[in-house]
Formats: sequence, structure tokens, C-alpha cells
Amino acid sequence: MQQQARMSAKDLFEKAVSFTKADEFRRAGLYPYFAEFSGSPDSIEAEVRMGDRRILMFGSNNYMGLTTHPEVKAAAKEAIDRYGTGCSGSRMLNGTMDLHVRLEERLARFMKRETALVFGTGFQTNFGALSTIAQKGDCIIADRNIHASLLDGCLASFGRTLRFRHNDMNDLENILASLPPDEGRLIVVDGVFSMEGDTANLPEIARLARLYCARVYVDEAHAIGVLGANGRGTSEHFQVESDVDIVMGTFSKSFASIGGFIASRRDVIEFIKHHSRAFVYSASLAPANAAAVLKAIEIIEREPERRLRLLEMGAYLRRELAQLGFKLLEGFTPIVPVVVDDEVLVCRFFWELMGEGIYTNAVLAPAVSHSLVRISCMATHTDEHAERLLEAMYRIGKRLELINQ
Ligand SMILES: Cc1ncc(COP(=O)(O)O)c(C=O)c1O
Repeated sequence: MQQQARMSAKDLFEKAVSFTKADEFRRAGLYPYFAEFSGSPDSIEAEVRMGDRRILMFGSNNYMGLTTHPEVKAAAKEAIDRYGTGCSGSRMLNGTMDLHVRLEERLARFMKRETALVFGTGFQTNFGALSTIAQKGDCIIADRNIHASLLDGCLASFGRTLRFRHNDMNDLENILASLPPDEGRLIVVDGVFSMEGDTANLPEIARLARLYCARVYVDEAHAIGVLGANGRGTSEHFQVESDVDIVMGTFSKSFASIGGFIASRRDVIEFIKHHSRAFVYSASLAPANAAAVLKAIEIIEREPERRLRLLEMGAYLRRELAQLGFKLLEGFTPIVPVVVDDEVLVCRFFWELMGEGIYTNAVLAPAVSHSLVRISCMATHTDEHAERLLEAMYRIGKRLELINQ
């Protein structure tokens, strides 16, 4: 009897059996994901190896080009020699090295905040911070286009989550105005939206937050090192830092490592530090990763020309691609989103560029509202790299009838 019931039950793996889309794209020779790279040529920081091929990288978040910087690599190696390859424990127990404490102090200083807290990844940071700081009786009001890690943090919290239309300040205000006064409010946005490369309207968000007594959380993953006179991100760029209560960053982009952090006032960090399950019940950041970030911050502060070069490169590509007739989403960041709006065509574009030795990101809806070829710039891209990309995009764009001049 029991056995019969089991045999007629629904198979939990049904969803996996019916997931065939990736194989369909593979069979058509269009599958654009999980490309295998095999290292970086020694001297050319914007190129990567793929077997015997050298690929020009226009799809990395290594904005400052520091992942192969000799000083960053040396700092990581030194940390391994001194501390070993891992810490084998939670920060709360045996996993705190003096290096973590130094890194948190350095991040707080860099971000001009009272204190900072480091997590194992950027994803874990958003997940751990949001799920902890918003509790029963609180409401998170989040932009529709926030990063998956922010959304998962919202959904894992015991507070409720409401979404406002992307960058629609009227929608945000209507939601804020509708909340009961006894509900705590937290507005959550990306400073720079990772795929579309546009920015949150932080001046207006700051005004609404003041008006409706809301706290503000900004994910500066793609903005730290990139925007603001000192690289502190979108809130520095818009001069609203004092209106942002919690700022989040990741180490996997400008900071050339892996890991993430939040920076805020001491009591908020103290609360999250003692209550966030993603922080308490997870091992601490590997020493090499922490040391790489410390060195990356030093270089970013010492060499502001990297940030200027990166912004210049983004502005140049945006201008030139628009002039060639490509449809771009608006923005001013070094993430340049070329709208293709057809997923097969995005993949063909991606592979034709790969044929020319150029890697970009194929970004497909519904992850974003438009299917895109996402180009991301690095401070180490040269004028020749830009010309190579533009020339290839022009030829391929014409062939695929994305542009008609
Ligand atoms: C906006 C944003 N937030 C958070 C993350 C997560 O960071 P990480 O990849 O370092 O875990 C990413 C990266 O994918 C991101 O783009």
C-alpha cells in the first residue's frame, strides 16, 4: 500500500527533466554561458586566455583592472604565507584574523562611515544584511530591478517587501505615503544597476526618505571605485551620502577579489554582526582575499587616474556606438548596454564577437527587461582595444541588421 502511494507520487525532478532550453541553445551553437578561460597573459591586463587564444575582455567587472596587478597579487601571496589558505571558522569564533579587523577599519575609512562589516561574498552581504535589519513590523520598499541578492535578502526577511517601478519616484512616493506610521521603512536600490548600467535617482530618493522617515540602503557594487570624486559610489556622485544609511559593496569588482561589506553607523553594524545568520554561520573571508582588497583600496586612492580613464572609456564607447546606430539604454556609467531585444540575435552577436576574439556579456530577458549585449569597460582598456571593439561591432551589427548605415 505504502509502496503504491510512493510510485504514483509526483517526481520532484520533473522540472529538471523538462528544462531543455540550455540544450536547445547548445545544439544551435548559440549557448553563451560558462565560457572557459584559462588565465591572463602576463602583461596585457584587458586580455584573457582561452586555450591558445587571447580574448579581449569587454565583459568583466574588474573595473580598475587590478586582478592581475603585481602589488595586489603579491599582497595575496604574502597573506597565504603568513595566515594560510583559509580561516576554518566563523568570524564570531576562531575565524577573525587581525587582517579582517584591519580591512573593516580601512573600508570604514575609505567609505567615510563609522564602521564596516565584511561577509564572504557580495551576495551573502545583501542577503545577510537585509534579512536581518528588516524584521516583523518593517517594510522594505525596493526598486523592481534590484539585484537578485537584494531581492533574496528582502524575501528572507520577516518584514514585508513592496516593489516600486524601476526608478519611478511617483510610484515610490505613493507606496511610502500608504504605509502605516508604526511600520519601519527601508528603501532598497542598486546605485548602479548591473545589467542596464543606469543609476538610481538618489537625490529624489533621499528627499522622499527624509519626508517619509524611511532609511535607505544602497548597493554600490558597480559604483565603488567608479563613481564619485573619491570612488565612494553613486551616493558620493550625487552628494547624498549623509542620506544613505547603509552602503553595501562587493570585492568582486573594483576591489579585485571576492567578498563583500556593508558600512554604516556602529549600532546598526553591531546588530547585524550579532544577528545575521549569513554572517555568524559562515566561515570568514580567506586571508588572501582580504589582503588583495586592502592593496586594491590603496591603489584606487593612489591612482585616481584609473577611475577617470574608466569613465572616459565608457563615455567614448556610448557616444561612438550611438553614432554607429546602435540602440543603447541611457546612462553615464562604464556599463554600456546595447539593446538587441531578441535572444537568438543576442547570442549570434555574442558568438560573432567571440569569433573576432572579443568577449562581451549576453544578457537575456527575463533577467532584464531588454535582451542586451552588455559591454563593461576597464581602466586598462587602451584606445586600440576600443577601436577593435567598435570596428567589430560595426561590421557584425550591419551583418545582423541591427544597424543600417
Ligand atoms: C548589484 C550587485 N550586487 C551584489 C552582487 C553580488 O556580488 P558578488 O558577485 O561579489 O557575490 C552583484 C554581483 O553579481 C551585483 O551585481
